[in-house]
Amino acid sequence: MENKVALITGAARGIGLATSQLLLSRDWRVAMIDRDGDALDAAIGTDKGAKAFYCDVSDPDDVSEMAVAVTEAFGRIDAVVNNAGVADFGPIGETDFARWRRVMKTNLDGVFLVSQATLPALKESRGALVNIASISGLRASTLRVAYGTSKAGVIQLTRQQAAELGEFGIRANCICPGPVRTKLAMAVHSQDIIDAYHDAIPLNRYGTETEIAECIAFLCSDQASYVTGQVLAADGGFEATGVGLPALRR
Ligand SMILES: NC(=O)c1ccc[n+]([C@@H]2O[C@H](COP(=O)([O-])OP(=O)(O)OC[C@H]3O[C@@H](n4cnc5c(N)ncnc54)[C@H](O)[C@@H]3O)[C@@H](O)[C@H]2O)c1
Repeated sequence: MENKVALITGAARGIGLATSQLLLSRDWRVAMIDRDGDALDAAIGTDKGAKAFYCDVSDPDDVSEMAVAVTEAFGRIDAVVNNAGVADFGPIGETDFARWRRVMKTNLDGVFLVSQATLPALKESRGALVNIASISGLRASTLRVAYGTSKAGVIQLTRQQAAELGEFGIRANCICPGPVRTKLAMAVHSQDIIDAYHDAIPLNRYGTETEIAECIAFLCSDQASYVTGQVLAADGGFEATGVGLPALRR
């Protein structure tokens, strides 16, 4: 049988790039999708199993064209990893509609559009959707009115997909990463925020791109063949802590 194909959005760097590299090392072929052409060209590497596709996941026409191009190039799609995301943190009063839409259109509209455009291919392969939300979609916090709400939407969208697409053999699951030192996180995490996260997370550290990629790869794989509609927090234990006051620690 020819090697399986994963379509990964936001693949030019960070978690998407780490997931691409991990799946390539496990003999998947990978369609690497990003709107940042220069970064994608730099990331694509020499692996013959990888191909680059420039696409803004928030643009319906771009997404339709990309889905056709990927299907033509590879002949099949077995897993779709909806990973492209933007972070923009600000108080509610300073989040004007343009800012709200900028976050929503990539983080939530993009997941909807890419999943829908790849549905025929996923039906054929009885494939898997893995959507990347965030710990911010599970726990509310200040400054994340748009980001946190978009990610909570991704969690519910995953459940909708699992409920409706199971009869086609398609699984849909969601990963909620805790903080990882990517360009996205470092743009919004000051040193104070980094220190506070270390303090609040039971494992006392940020995660790595590869640790998140391992969870994504599992949910894409046949090893997860009876898992659908699930939300997995890969977050060092952050979600498990209710009253996480440092003063209550020994
Ligand atoms: N890094 C963290 O701490 C963290 C925590 C929780 C969740 N996440 C989520 O993980 C995912 C990956 O984040 P990352 O930290 O690797 O970010 P990153 O900024 O390093 O990489 C994101 C990639 O997505 C691409 N992208 C953004 N908008 C796009 C669009 N509209 N169309 C196509 N490509 C687009 C960017 O060009 C970039 O290459 C995001 O959904 C993010 O919200 C990250």
